[in-house]
Amino acid sequence: MDVMAIEGGLPLRGEAEIHGAKNAVLPVLAAALLCPRSILRRCPMLTDVWSACRILEHLGCRVTVLREDRTLTVEAWEAREYGIPDTLAGEMRGSIIFLGALLARFGRAHIALPGGCRLGPRPIDLHIGGLRRMGVRIIEQEDGLLCTAEDGLRGADIRLSYPSVGATENLLIAAALARGETILRGAAGEPEIDGLIDFLNRAGARISREDGLIRIEGVQRLREVDYTIIPDRIEAATYLSAAAATGGEITLKGVELSHLEAVLPVFEEMGCRLNRGAGQLTLTAPKRLSPIAVTTAPYPDFPTDALAPVMAASLLAEGESRFEEGVFDSRYLHVEQLQEMGGQIRLDGQKARVTGVDALRAGKQLHCTDLRGGAALVIAALAAQGVSMIGDLRHICRGYDDLPAVLRRLGGRVWMISGVEEPHLPRTAAFNAFGHPFHPECLPQNVL
Ligand code: EPZ
Repeated sequence: MDVMAIEGGLPLRGEAEIHGAKNAVLPVLAAALLCPRSILRRCPMLTDVWSACRILEHLGCRVTVLREDRTLTVEAWEAREYGIPDTLAGEMRGSIIFLGALLARFGRAHIALPGGCRLGPRPIDLHIGGLRRMGVRIIEQEDGLLCTAEDGLRGADIRLSYPSVGATENLLIAAALARGETILRGAAGEPEIDGLIDFLNRAGARISREDGLIRIEGVQRLREVDYTIIPDRIEAATYLSAAAATGGEITLKGVELSHLEAVLPVFEEMGCRLNRGAGQLTLTAPKRLSPIAVTTAPYPDFPTDALAPVMAASLLAEGESRFEEGVFDSRYLHVEQLQEMGGQIRLDGQKARVTGVDALRAGKQLHCTDLRGGAALVIAALAAQGVSMIGDLRHICRGYDDLPAVLRRLGGRVWMISGVEEPHLPRTAAFNAFGHPFHPECLPQNVL
């Protein structure tokens, strides 16, 4: 297995370019099944992206990846397969997002239930309820869901009882080619949804967002599309947290500031100075951070995915910070290891109280529990005294493109160590560890 070694105690300084957003590219890759050819620019090089590409190839699409300029092309006109086996669906939670696209393309789908992060139960009742209203017959079987829309998908007036990101995306994609108009009430407002709408409209769909609802007028077919993925607001929040935690000063390029409106005030509350520019942002950390209070909720409120990184920064603040998780059931899987590094964190259900300390100690056998929890361990290691060792990096590879190289460019002392035995880890499928060659069976066939 690969392990990341981080020597902490050095302020991060310099510039970093923000990549395309993981949570924007995954629904777009699913929607690419509806277009003869999709050219996706600023595509992040992530294992979740490779998982989605392997699903597209299994369905009969041709995927070409130009790694250097991060351009990914999907040619879907020859796709014939409508089933996704658990060997592919089980690799990431985002696999459920193919359901709407399969039904829109083939009128049927057979998909294993999703895998992905351990963030508590990950129900899909809102996806299922909306698709049924569009005329889909869904049978839950041992090996997953068998879905059919014998007469094709029909437009429907759908109210989501919770602004689920994935359900909104699935229903959007399904409605793009449905007969008639679909209205999604109570839909999610995340920027990644607007990115998906933009992608589909550029391909000829007719979708509009108006006061709290999304209106989709079904069309016959979609055309070739050339699209640039929106920047990753969570990656930006992660590097800002790392700069804050290490008392540094960094400039992020390629950010969309409007996507960070709930996040930036928290860094100002910490005592960081922010200098906003066109598509860029400079954060200058104070000598000692001030405590914060954060409650996560659906967009436009503070994003749940940024809780763990910001919590890591708060470990060294002067005073007590408070967190409340409002989206998932278990967003604190990483806390125990932050405590082992000296973090003073008290959990009470969905709430957490952090009492700032003067110093953190390096963790010698850290291991990532989930994607954002793993990022929190990296941030704590960058701020700790000594060299930390972090394993089970497959979680971080899912959502952070080239993380060690970005940190090194910012002055972080980060090394990759291969072949370290990690007895506590199950023998997992091959995975990339930042710049190490992907295992061939992991990559799409055409990586140039
Ligand atoms: C997306 O997950 C993101 N993943 C998550 O990012 C993100 O945290 C989440 O949205 C919230 O913003 C991707 O886009 C691939 P939800 P998703 O459906 O679609 C409940 C990361 O770290 N729910 O909005 O799964 C559900 O249990 C990942 O990048 C239902 O009850 O999120 C949860 O409590 C983690 N029934 C809440 O809604 C449903 O049918 C939010 O889920 C669907 C969801």
